[in-house]
Amino acid sequence: MPAAIYPGSFDPLTNGHVSLIQRGLMMFDKVVVAIAVNPKKTPLFSVEERKQLIREAIQDPRVEVDDFQGLLVDYCRRKNVNVIVRGLRAVSDFEYEFQMANMNRKLAGNGVETVFMMTGEDYFYVSSQIVREVASLGGSVKGLVPANVLAKLEARFGRKG
Ligand code: PNS
Repeated sequence: MPAAIYPGSFDPLTNGHVSLIQRGLMMFDKVVVAIAVNPKKTPLFSVEERKQLIREAIQDPRVEVDDFQGLLVDYCRRKNVNVIVRGLRAVSDFEYEFQMANMNRKLAGNGVETVFMMTGEDYFYVSSQIVREVASLGGSVKGLVPANVLAKLEARFGRKG
């Protein structure tokens, strides 16, 4: 079974991401969790913080945590991996994901395929964006993110009940 690249912002890692990585490991020998660095965006956590949070939360030798700048297909080529894994939560994800998958296939000249996995039903409403917003406004995201991410959010925004 080949390796797969699981790209994203992971700002921060959620339990939806963790579930997807764990299920990805049932299909692939190795999953490269690749943080896309976008210099135009100001993230909540730095790339190094995000990498550390993922490494702490997922301690599995089959998971590599890395970051990349530029096009995902160029990163895939550098890593010699031609499968991208993405999670699909709700119908609303479909259009954007369909667009990206097709653009990546066009850019890579059929050299890259995207595999979609359904997000676990417990986490279909969870996104990094909603986690950031709720945590920053004083709501609890307990159970939606790994314990170390929760601690980091509480350190940033204060402890929630
Ligand atoms: O977690 P996200 O923010 O939904 O992930 C989006 C991501 C990082 C996978 C996407 O923006 C991406 O691939 N960025 C790298 C730049 C690139 O290749 N863009 C063209 C994709 S069609």
